[in-house]
Amino acid sequence: MSIQILGTGAYVPERILTNDELSTMVETSDEWITQRVGVKERRISTCESAAEMGAKAAQRALEAAGITADQLDLIVGATVSSDTGCPSMSALVQEQIGAHCPAFDVNSACSGFLFALDTAAAFIARGGVQYALVLGAERLSRILDWTDRSTCVIFGDGSGAFVIGKGENYLGSHLHTQGGDSVLSIPLGKGNSPFYEKEVEPLAVHMSGQETFKFAVKQISADLKLIAEQAGVEVTDFDWIVPHQANYRIIELAARRLGVPMEKFVLNLDRYGNTSSASVPISFDELARSGKLKKGDLIALCAFGGGLSSAACLIRW
Ligand code: ACO
Repeated sequence: MSIQILGTGAYVPERILTNDELSTMVETSDEWITQRVGVKERRISTCESAAEMGAKAAQRALEAAGITADQLDLIVGATVSSDTGCPSMSALVQEQIGAHCPAFDVNSACSGFLFALDTAAAFIARGGVQYALVLGAERLSRILDWTDRSTCVIFGDGSGAFVIGKGENYLGSHLHTQGGDSVLSIPLGKGNSPFYEKEVEPLAVHMSGQETFKFAVKQISADLKLIAEQAGVEVTDFDWIVPHQANYRIIELAARRLGVPMEKFVLNLDRYGNTSSASVPISFDELARSGKLKKGDLIALCAFGGGLSSAACLIRW
């Protein structure tokens, strides 16, 4: 297909929230969170919105790509935790970095970045877009119920971005939606209408952990097999897999099902937790800057989350 990654960037806020500190807020422990999820600490924004964090990742990606914001033809962002319903997070990022191109958000929860990447890739394939910025930025700490130990221990804040252009490195992609709100939802609360009579759940991440877990293991395995098949390779040919950083056990089970060693999976959930749409680009940026990537490496990206949704794509470095 028709894109290449020209530069990547990531940003996480400075404030570290450790499992031990969380244990003073809800009834949990470092041992439980480490064993059941794999998170040791996460970053929490104390003064930056999702868009402000997104702009910082975007600037780093632009620098890495060696282009300026006014050269961008398109910005596609993903978020479920923007501080504003309007303007979109991407429109705010556009202003902050000094770009002038069209900017809009997609919402596919934790799979959002890969949905945004595929959207931007389609714009480039259509023609008329030379450079696009794709980003995931989340201030999930804003929408968590900090008294619910089954959700608040999992998530963190942060942002990640790619600058992409025309190329031949995007070997295939797959997007999947299994619509419904019974397993995972983020209701936005009652709102202001004095006329609306239906009961509405308060603003928070509501999640059936075990159902999400099963969906995740099934979809990672199916989606990675599918993109391998599309590209005429085996999953064991992947040099790197950059997964959504939700739970160490999910990744371990998927790895076992696929027969792929854990060393091929890029992991940082111990340091950042689940940053939803920012998780894949933050992890990819760490890999890209680690010096471990070799020209020609096959890198699979995969994610899953609310929607329910999942996505995967394959990149030749
Ligand atoms: N500390 C201590 N105990 C806890 C905690 C906690 N933080 N949370 C739950 N428990 C308890 C439960 O109350 C339960 O106790 P009980 O047996 O006495 O009833 C016990 O631990 C086991 O609870 P489970 O929910 O069965 O725990 P599980 O092993 O399934 O782990 C978790 C829960 C971490 C949520 C897991 O199911 C998971 O990771 N699911 C996937 C989540 C995910 O990937 N989400 C991604 C999408 S998010 C998005 O799109 C916005």
